[in-house]
Amino acid sequence: MGETYEKHWTHTLSVEFPEVYLPFLEKIDERADHEVMTLTRLLHDRGHDPGSTLLDAPCGIGRHSLRLAGVGYSVTGIDLSEMYVNIATQTSRAEGGAAKFVCGDILNPASVLGSRPGFDVIISMFTSNGYFGKSGDITMFSKFREIAADNATLIVQTVNRDWVVRNFEPEGMDTAGGLRVIQNRAFEFETSTILNDWEFWEGSGPDIKHKLSIHMRHRVYSLHEMMELLEHTGWSVAQTYGTSDAQMSDLKPMEFDSTVMWLVARAK
Ligand SMILES: C[S@@+](CC[C@H](N)C(=O)[O-])C[C@H]1O[C@@H](n2cnc3c(N)ncnc32)[C@H](O)[C@@H]1O
Repeated sequence: MGETYEKHWTHTLSVEFPEVYLPFLEKIDERADHEVMTLTRLLHDRGHDPGSTLLDAPCGIGRHSLRLAGVGYSVTGIDLSEMYVNIATQTSRAEGGAAKFVCGDILNPASVLGSRPGFDVIISMFTSNGYFGKSGDITMFSKFREIAADNATLIVQTVNRDWVVRNFEPEGMDTAGGLRVIQNRAFEFETSTILNDWEFWEGSGPDIKHKLSIHMRHRVYSLHEMMELLEHTGWSVAQTYGTSDAQMSDLKPMEFDSTVMWLVARAK
């Protein structure tokens, strides 16, 4: 198991063992129905109607990309996992869709998307930040600005650090598609980083099989910190919202019990 600690955990989970996280992404696929309705409303309010070019970064298996392409956005999805990109591509083809998916690093998107693609919209959904600490997020949002159009909109949907701290649970468990993940968590206050130890198991009873142990560091943000980060990386925050109840409810002003925060920013 030692080798899983030698590489960055995103490489382990997205490149080496994408199949162990896949059922957990599939399990939440339907949540994207509601989230895409929210996205399209926010985008319409900002003048980005269907036809606008949109980058979903990272896209995973295309939960949001496929739906946004279905209502007419010109969607590109990028993800580090070749397996997820292939799944998204196949689903798009099967649905007769036009979404395009590429395998690449969200910390260096220009290397696969070109230096000036000029996206009208960039979305970062389901806490797709914090994997490389604050410095990684500064790089990522700065790179997003470089590949965005001058009147572009960035939408970030990410966990609310204040909710994490108020409701911190050192242990957890989740199941999906015959897999079980046992989660142990600690919190590093100096850096607002969740230290996650996840153990994936397949099956049950005497046939239970160990699949993967992984140690993950995940930087989380309070709303004011994420606003500062975006302002620092070439974005101007226009609106902020919160949602609770596992991301299903409508956007509201942020409150203590908002599990997730949404930030809508325009390119500076
Ligand atoms: C929490 S999932 C969210 C995916 C998608 N936004 C969604 O809501 O379904 C995070 C995704 O980030 C991808 N990922 C992790 N590090 C990445 C990187 N450096 N570049 C591109 N994708 C990355 C993973 O493969 C995974 O699909």
